[in-house]
Amino acid sequence: MTLNIEILEQSFEKIKPRANEFAASFYDNLFQAHPEVKPLFANIDMVNQRKKLINSLVLVVENLRNSEALELSVSGQQFFISPTA
Ligand code: HEM
Repeated sequence: MTLNIEILEQSFEKIKPRANEFAASFYDNLFQAHPEVKPLFANIDMVNQRKKLINSLVLVVENLRNSEALELSVSGQQFFISPTA
């Protein structure tokens, strides 16, 4: 599958003004489709989590033309996800 960077950039620009709403619906959909992952977020501040999701998506979309920066940011991140319930 070829990545259509222009379409991704354009659609992300449309989402940006409603980024918080978008992030909220992301987690609504996730929890509806996979209720089993809910416990992973039991102790998470969801207001902050929504901001983190948005920030990471901004980083990805702003660097779609810069795969080196994306690789660095992904390899530099470690996600420690442990069930809390
Ligand atoms: C587009 C998809 C996703 C993006 C961009 C994303 C991004 C992030 C970011 C930036 C963080 C914060 C990391 C930090 O605080 O350093 C995070 C945390 C987390 N993500 Fe995701 N995520 C995505 C999908 C998912 C999915 C599908 C799950 C389902 C299991 C998930 C589970 C978690 C959990 C449980 C944490 C909290 C970890 C903790 O602080 O204990 N994420 N995610």
